[in-house]
Amino acid sequence: MEFSIKSGAPQSGRNGCVVAGVFEPRRLSAAAAHLDRAAKGYLSAVLRRGDMQGKPGTTLLLHSVPNAAADRVLLVGLGREAGFGDKQYREAVAAAIRALNASGAEEASFHLTELGVDRRDAAWKVAHAVMVARECAYRFTRMKSKSEEPEAALRRLILSVADRAAERRAAAGLEQGLAVAHGVALARDLGNLPPNVCTPSHLADQARELAKRYRMKVEVLERADMERLGMGALLSVARGSVQPPKFITLEYRGGPKKLKAVALVGKGITFDTGGISLKPAAEMDEMKFDMCGAAAVRGTLKAVGELRLPVNVVGAIPTTENMPGGRATRPGDIVTSLSGQTVEILNTDAEGRLILCDALTYVERYRPAAVIDIATLTGACVVALGHVATGLFATHDVLAREIIGAGETAYDRVWHMPLWDDYQEALKSNFADFANIGGRPAGAVTAACFLARFTKKYKWAHLDIAGTAWKSGKEKGATGRPVPLLTQFLINRAGKR
Ligand code: BES
Ligand code: MN
Ligand code: ZN
Repeated sequence: MEFSIKSGAPQSGRNGCVVAGVFEPRRLSAAAAHLDRAAKGYLSAVLRRGDMQGKPGTTLLLHSVPNAAADRVLLVGLGREAGFGDKQYREAVAAAIRALNASGAEEASFHLTELGVDRRDAAWKVAHAVMVARECAYRFTRMKSKSEEPEAALRRLILSVADRAAERRAAAGLEQGLAVAHGVALARDLGNLPPNVCTPSHLADQARELAKRYRMKVEVLERADMERLGMGALLSVARGSVQPPKFITLEYRGGPKKLKAVALVGKGITFDTGGISLKPAAEMDEMKFDMCGAAAVRGTLKAVGELRLPVNVVGAIPTTENMPGGRATRPGDIVTSLSGQTVEILNTDAEGRLILCDALTYVERYRPAAVIDIATLTGACVVALGHVATGLFATHDVLAREIIGAGETAYDRVWHMPLWDDYQEALKSNFADFANIGGRPAGAVTAACFLARFTKKYKWAHLDIAGTAWKSGKEKGATGRPVPLLTQFLINRAGKR
């Protein structure tokens, strides 16, 4: 699908559609009122008949509206005008795109981007229209032997803004929205791939490809390299698997040499059986999504590369399977991490923190400005926050606020959780420096506390995306979160200099 921006009256080419909003109760938006005047009250008459109340999520497709500069007019319900905010705007865009895709329209003049949204400018509205449109159009068909649904006719979306000045500002929003959408699609693809295809070796190959395309430096450490370095925690997780583990680093240098890099560390468990502490069978297939942190790092780097942001970013991806087997790590085993600290592994299913802790020590060598790790770390985080907010933990308050703000702008939100030392007691071990689990209470917090023990040398934040990285049930699939948040965070940092 192609996107462009224009200002001025509703108009569309051949086989097109004009898209305009209707507020509740039966109130035409400015663009709809414009069409109504040209049509001599045709739209208000339709509304009076009661076919469109303006309820959120509803749409009405009209053909041959008098004097409309298009074959079709699509009215989109917006809900009440008071309180029309980010959520309502994005849902209206999604409803419009779904209706357009179901119609035969090839082109649409899209006027929802002219609506007033609290605190948001034209660039934001355009960026989010693009992101939502791409999200709606996403299908994962790579593993189907033949295609199931006919492709939508919609080819071109012309996003309308108030005037010439807004056109210029909206162009930046269009560019950003597209880059984020591409990053999200990549993260979704990697997440959705089955675990027999998306192995650590596959992630390494794909990283090499991404590096070539966007001129990044890539490095892949093999098992022997990790042994030499002393990544005992990461290697303990890989022991049960036939797939060789990989430690991937990607370096994007778009900023000045002296500018310190932001390090993004992504959990890359390509399949989590739990290991010897085996998980129950139900929904275990969803543990192919346990590499969504790694996928988010890759997606973010793609977006950053596409935008050529003047920032420096290091992506670090520890990746392995977590499998049971004769060589697998046992509950009770004690391993030495890259930091030198020893860990008693009381539950082999708490493997994410074991691969992350060595990666967190490894990135010290970049002297990073900040480190953010992204991980589908705990079921407890899903219990705490559900599928709405990502869990945020941080040792640095300014960094935390920066991430919260970026999440709000990107509509990819986080909730700040505590990381007080009081929780550290839960990790006490009688035999090693500490244990890898803390018991049932506050499971997301004690997992973060474990990681915090490896992050003393820099400003650090941890994103637990266990509830937000994928959807279960009928809509099962990766969401691409938190690529929008991370990209926005880096866009904001780029703007600060
Ligand atoms: N990958 C899982 C976390 C997870 C589970 C995310 C379910 C989303 C849905 C992680 O490796 C894990 O198994 N965590 C354990 C930790 C426990 C053993 C302390 C968990 O959350 O049960
Ligand atoms: Mn696990
Ligand atoms: Zn896991």
